[in-house]
Amino acid sequence: MRIRVEVGDISRWEDEVIVVNLFEGVDHPGGATGAVDAALGHQISAMIASRDLSGAFKDVTGFPTFDRIPGNRVIVVGLGRREDFTLDRVREVSARAATKVRDMGLTTFATIVHGAGVGEIDLGDAAEAVVEGALLGLYRYDEHKTQPDGKRVEAMTIVNLEKARAGEIRDAVHRASVVGSSVNFARDLINAPSNVKTPRLLTEKIRAAAKEAGAKLTVYDEAQLKDLGFGALLGVARGSVEPPRLLVLEHAGGGRSKPVVLVGKGITFDSGGIALKPLEALGADPMWLMRYDMAGAAVALSAVLAAARLKLPVNAVAIAPVTENMPSGSAQKPGDIVRTFGGKTIEVLNTDAEGRLVLADALGFAKTFKPQATIDLATLTGAAKVALGRMASAMFADDASLRERLLRASEATAERVWEMPLWDDYDEQIKSDFADVKNTGGRSAGAVTAAKFLQRFVDGFPWAHLDIAGPAWIEAAPDSPKKAYLPTGASGYGVRLLVRLLRDWKSPG
Ligand code: BES
Ligand code: MN
Ligand code: ZN
Repeated sequence: MRIRVEVGDISRWEDEVIVVNLFEGVDHPGGATGAVDAALGHQISAMIASRDLSGAFKDVTGFPTFDRIPGNRVIVVGLGRREDFTLDRVREVSARAATKVRDMGLTTFATIVHGAGVGEIDLGDAAEAVVEGALLGLYRYDEHKTQPDGKRVEAMTIVNLEKARAGEIRDAVHRASVVGSSVNFARDLINAPSNVKTPRLLTEKIRAAAKEAGAKLTVYDEAQLKDLGFGALLGVARGSVEPPRLLVLEHAGGGRSKPVVLVGKGITFDSGGIALKPLEALGADPMWLMRYDMAGAAVALSAVLAAARLKLPVNAVAIAPVTENMPSGSAQKPGDIVRTFGGKTIEVLNTDAEGRLVLADALGFAKTFKPQATIDLATLTGAAKVALGRMASAMFADDASLRERLLRASEATAERVWEMPLWDDYDEQIKSDFADVKNTGGRSAGAVTAAKFLQRFVDGFPWAHLDIAGPAWIEAAPDSPKKAYLPTGASGYGVRLLVRLLRDWKSPG
């Protein structure tokens, strides 16, 4: 979709659709909506009086203009009550308006910057939210449809009255276009079926994207991983005919400062290995869904790609261990003991707890970058999803300042995190009789014991872990957030959060 910024009066704007807004409780709208109302002989006010229009949040009301103004149709989106207004509502109404335009089979629309100047919300942030909402809401994964539905919005024009502020809006549009397309890039990777994103194929997709973004990609193959001592990653990979990869993507924008390292779980298919998952089972996710088990990797990589495209003044590294988890005659077996990059040993009691294995190597490897902080993202446990559903990730943080940074980024992006404990009492559950640690802690506190397991491999840097098993995938079900900018399938959860975190990082130099 092309996005343009123009200076002008939207009531005089010629387009297929003119999108304006309305707060609940307003009888006579002002601003741009008021201008459109006046130009239409107060039709909008009349519709409010007749209760055909209420301004209730998420309401989308469209009507034709019969040539009374240059725009062919008007869509009024409801912003809800003024006192309940948030930036996330801007994302949401923008997504609703854009998808309404698409559903009507139309291809272009003009809109104002919803919510600018309301309360504390500034023009740039509101413009970003308008663009993000539209890009995220219009996303569809139809890569493999030979006859995709032809409905496609091609252009969106943001019309604003003040000439002096056009530059501000254009900058915001640029930032939001990069962020929105990075989220959608991650969604494409996560939605892709596992046969087109084997570790080798995924590597090639990232190679192309890295080149375009101007980020540096280093790829480690199986032989190199053997030399480096990635015993846990290689153990998981043993069952597959597809060789594993370790991807390291670097954005250098922060001079000589230490990098922020993002680690992402990259299981391109999690069958469970020898502990084979059922194809489907009551209350459990069907096996085909386990293609989203590389969401952490996709999100970490996409965030660094976005940082590179935005030329953020920070050094950022994404580390992604990528492999399939498959059963076979060569697969690792329950009871096997593997040696990790950092030298610690793990007793593999359940081959389906493979995420923490590949992350153990990757967290050890992270240390070689002398990180300012390391954040890992992983679809790690069904238990995290049981605890929080799809509404939030489970956050574990061993550092107060990193926790605060994540909470602030979460607030700004409405990508929710909810903190869970890292009390040492849980360590009892992962004590091994035969190795330094075992990879399962039983059913109690499954998300916590997985985090405590990861913490064993963290050494010398502030660390946070986000278990994204819930929010990484959206379904048309009550346990998923009901948002127009989150269509079903891969959500890309975490990209906006991490880009925000990196944007606000302000490294000391
Ligand atoms: N990838 C799964 C976790 C998962 C489950 C993600 C459902 C998304 C939706 C992970 O590798 C796994 O299998 N975890 C096991 C751990 C157990 C064997 C200790 C789980 O959560 O059951
Ligand atoms: Mn598993
Ligand atoms: Zn997994």
